[in-house]
Amino acid sequence: MAGNERRLIEVADAATLAEVAAVRLLARMAANPGRIAICLAGGSSPKQLYELLATEDYRGKIPWERVHWFIGDERFVPENDPRHNMAMARRAFLDRCAPPANIHPIPTEAANPDEAAARYEHELKAFNGVDRLDPAWPLFDLVLMGVGPDGHTASLFPDYPALQETERWVVGVPEAHVEPFVSRVTLTLPALASCREMLFEVAGAGKRAILTRVLAGEPLPANRARSNGETVWLVDKAALPGDTRAA
Ligand code: 6PG
Repeated sequence: MAGNERRLIEVADAATLAEVAAVRLLARMAANPGRIAICLAGGSSPKQLYELLATEDYRGKIPWERVHWFIGDERFVPENDPRHNMAMARRAFLDRCAPPANIHPIPTEAANPDEAAARYEHELKAFNGVDRLDPAWPLFDLVLMGVGPDGHTASLFPDYPALQETERWVVGVPEAHVEPFVSRVTLTLPALASCREMLFEVAGAGKRAILTRVLAGEPLPANRARSNGETVWLVDKAALPGDTRAA
């Protein structure tokens, strides 16, 4: 399945969702004998997956030396701030498992979000080896995503200019209008689309309202985010709107 189609996979609960996400991640890694690039998501939804990757069941199956870890968006706060996305991933698994040189945080020590964005774009282009996005040469093997209560994904908020960006790979975002109310740095839709698989994790009754709007086709950022390869939404029963839940 390629292009703009989205595949929705229903799972029983959040724990199962994390397991299924881990299996898909490992499958993408196994499919690439060379250098692997994974773009992580922030927020709370991926935490269970991250903790799973550090367990004996999964840790031994990941070629840590060949895997590089990037982040799709960051809150413009110091790395020791509890709201910092990459810091959460480091605590959950990266610092115990991955070579430090393979961890690529967004530099929030920069003077401002725009400078951090420019530096991260430079790093992504250096890592990619070419400074233009080519569907035949995806930047990432897999991009993890979530969806916020307003339909945002990464830090691409409804009606924000960042959503319309077609040239730049990373941009600064002034203050967000959802928690946490801080400036952000986010990859843009073209950079996030440059992957073999975009994998959304959506769990819990708290996601039902926004999922209803997404499945109704509203032009929300989370609906506009698609992979040039495969786009998969892992959704647990609690998050699914009543009428779409399997009997
Ligand atoms: C962030 C995330 C953001 C997140 C959604 C869902 O920095 O907050 O990257 O896009 O994926 O807000 O957040 P939860 O998983 O916490 O519901």
